[in-house]
Amino acid sequence: MSLAEELLELALATARETGRMLVDKRPATGPDVVQTKSSPTDVVTQMDRAAEELVLQRIGAARPGDAFLGEEGGTQDGDGPVRWIVDPIDGTVNYLYDLPDWAVSIAAQVDGVTVAGVVDMPRRGETYTAVRGGGALLHTASGTRELRVNADVPLERALVATGFGYDARRRAHQAEVLTGVLPNVRDIRRGGSCCADLCALAAGRVDAYYERGVQAWDVAAGALIVEEAGGRVAGLDGAPVSPDFALAAGPGTFEALHDLLLPLDPARD
Ligand code: IPD
Ligand code: CA
Ligand code: CA
Ligand code: CA
Repeated sequence: MSLAEELLELALATARETGRMLVDKRPATGPDVVQTKSSPTDVVTQMDRAAEELVLQRIGAARPGDAFLGEEGGTQDGDGPVRWIVDPIDGTVNYLYDLPDWAVSIAAQVDGVTVAGVVDMPRRGETYTAVRGGGALLHTASGTRELRVNADVPLERALVATGFGYDARRRAHQAEVLTGVLPNVRDIRRGGSCCADLCALAAGRVDAYYERGVQAWDVAAGALIVEEAGGRVAGLDGAPVSPDFALAAGPGTFEALHDLLLPLDPARD
């Protein structure tokens, strides 16, 4: 077994255990908001923290010494080439409201390159996995299938997923950008979980995704899943994907959406 496959196996077992815990232990009246971050809409619940602790505990026990970057602060330096990038609940607002589209996202990097990624969506009964160079898979109770993005979808027939960061100033700008995108595409979807949007793209359920203000833990696993499903993930104007901008789509559609977005969304902060 290669190192990437070993890391995937650990990520898969950990994501599934954490996903089950989040379903089983979600308080019947909903989780408590224990903190707000960049704005009152940027919430953290006790379950975000419990999930990240469980992931850190399981990965730390199996591979002490690996570096770790988690959204809820479970960051630690390592003494080797492996770093884990973890979003314990991607789609916290969906989880808070008991909407099904939230996920546990775990990516493993070796020397800064993502080599394995898992996105587990227990309320949908779906787990997405990818190993660099090994394709992307969707696992459900009825079996496992290989994923392929839709290619060369003209913009007027493209279903485009997007998301909005929590910062109010950025949101106003994102709304402006949206007014330039919406008349040019089939429609927009705002699912509420960045990694779920990327997996939907990999599965051909949407044709493209873009968002300003995403963080490494939002995109790390989902980006590998998209790339292994034949898609492209990058920033604008030749930049790599970063908190500035993430754009993902199949070949052909990527370039068309990129050219639409570039004049609409000059880098602003
Ligand atoms: C958020 C979700 C959302 C996206 C936000 C993210 P969180 O992550 O992925 O879809 O629009 O930018 O911050 O806070 O639920 O982990
Ligand atoms: Ca969050
Ligand atoms: Ca997230
Ligand atoms: Ca999160």
